[in-house]
Amino acid sequence: MNKKYMAEPYRIKMVESIRQTTKEERITLLKNAGYNPFSLRSDDVYIDLLTDSGTGAMSQEQWGAMMIGDEAYAGSRSFYRLESVVKNITGYKYFMPVHQGRGAEQVFLPQLVTHKGMYYLSNIHFDTTRAHVELAGARALDCVTECCYDLKNYHPFKGNFDLELLEKTILEKGKENICGIIMTITNNSAGGQPVSMENMREVHKIAKKYGIMNIIDGARYAENSFFIKEREKGYQDKDIIDIARETYSYADALLMSAKKDGLVNMGGIIAIRDDKCLFDKCRTRAVAYEGFPTYGGLNGRDMDALAVGLMEALDENYLRHRIDQVRYLGDRLMEAGIPIQYPVGGHAVFVDCKALAPQIPYDQFPSLAVTNALYVEAGVRAVEIGSLLLGRDPDTNKNIEAKLELMRLTIPRRVYTYNHLDVVADAMIHVFEHRHELKGYAFDYESPILRHFTSTFKPL
Ligand code: F0G
Repeated sequence: MNKKYMAEPYRIKMVESIRQTTKEERITLLKNAGYNPFSLRSDDVYIDLLTDSGTGAMSQEQWGAMMIGDEAYAGSRSFYRLESVVKNITGYKYFMPVHQGRGAEQVFLPQLVTHKGMYYLSNIHFDTTRAHVELAGARALDCVTECCYDLKNYHPFKGNFDLELLEKTILEKGKENICGIIMTITNNSAGGQPVSMENMREVHKIAKKYGIMNIIDGARYAENSFFIKEREKGYQDKDIIDIARETYSYADALLMSAKKDGLVNMGGIIAIRDDKCLFDKCRTRAVAYEGFPTYGGLNGRDMDALAVGLMEALDENYLRHRIDQVRYLGDRLMEAGIPIQYPVGGHAVFVDCKALAPQIPYDQFPSLAVTNALYVEAGVRAVEIGSLLLGRDPDTNKNIEAKLELMRLTIPRRVYTYNHLDVVADAMIHVFEHRHELKGYAFDYESPILRHFTSTFKPL
């Protein structure tokens, strides 16, 4: 390990054994799972890089805080502790816990859909965000900078909005038809790429100019703040929490999956700057779908763990190590010549499977082929983000070709060591060296919705 990457700023107090399997066993396990890694049992996975969502390790302070959780149905002390932390970071007046990110989406997003033919605009809507926009009867349009699709060349903020496209879209659709602007930080679907403070400031100006509400999807806002400190002029000497506060100053509301930068296994947040009427409407809907407003689907102890986790995730040493781990894996793959998105984002390394396995057409799912080969090689579970995830065109029923065929190696927080990442890198290098042997997949069973979760396949 060289000094380029920060060593763990923690020591390990409790361990969870993980099972190793043989290659022969994994060949059978994958076959039994219908060649769909989502159907593998966790027990059959050695290193699980499926997601960074809810998969992090809590600290002793968080476990300690759980002991003082107040499980009162109404007015829990845990709620007030969490509320005070959320207000301290965001500066917003109103707060409500929810069970996870999509809970926040289902409560909040329909509130701004007031008539037919409306749109939400985002840099890129995350899948569940898009689903809730559509369920609410609106359409989701993405206005991300074009450079996010250029995997090879360095740009410090590939998650940014294309400001011209954003304004053009508002004018084209009519400002009265825009429900809100959703700033996703970091931009998960663009590879966990950060959004610059300047970009957020400009988006805010555009939102104000047209009287449109500006919403932050802050699942990974702490990681975004770290990138700003590292890369944006004028922020090098600022504290991460102050960068986060400035971030929230450019929006009117926060929707957050706390399973990422909240450092908890389950939880979510709605916070609203000052619109009491909107908050009251959200509370009413939350009672029906999530729970009474002072617990929102969470245990009291969960709220206490989150109150502590939110502050821990803003610790600069924690963040440096976190991002260094992702970078370490990215650097090892790049040194071996493996095509990945460069620079790496905050939570994952994205492997360019179109470049890696060009012999496999998009409708035979090159990223699934690479993901499965990696599992067979070392028991590492990654996730396909490409044409399989994208699905079919509802009008023509044809498979849609994704712009990018990616495999996401998502790093959970405070869970794996650099040694684990070496196992991943070595296995990936092996797959790369045998890339010409990779073959695509056909459906054995195709699930009608969200097909990537439950479909089964046969190798071609
Ligand atoms: N927004 C973003 C940017 C996300 O990445 C996610 C979840 C959500 C909202 C929804 O939150 O899962 O708590 O309901 N992303 C996970 C992932 C699932 O693997 O990227 P949730």
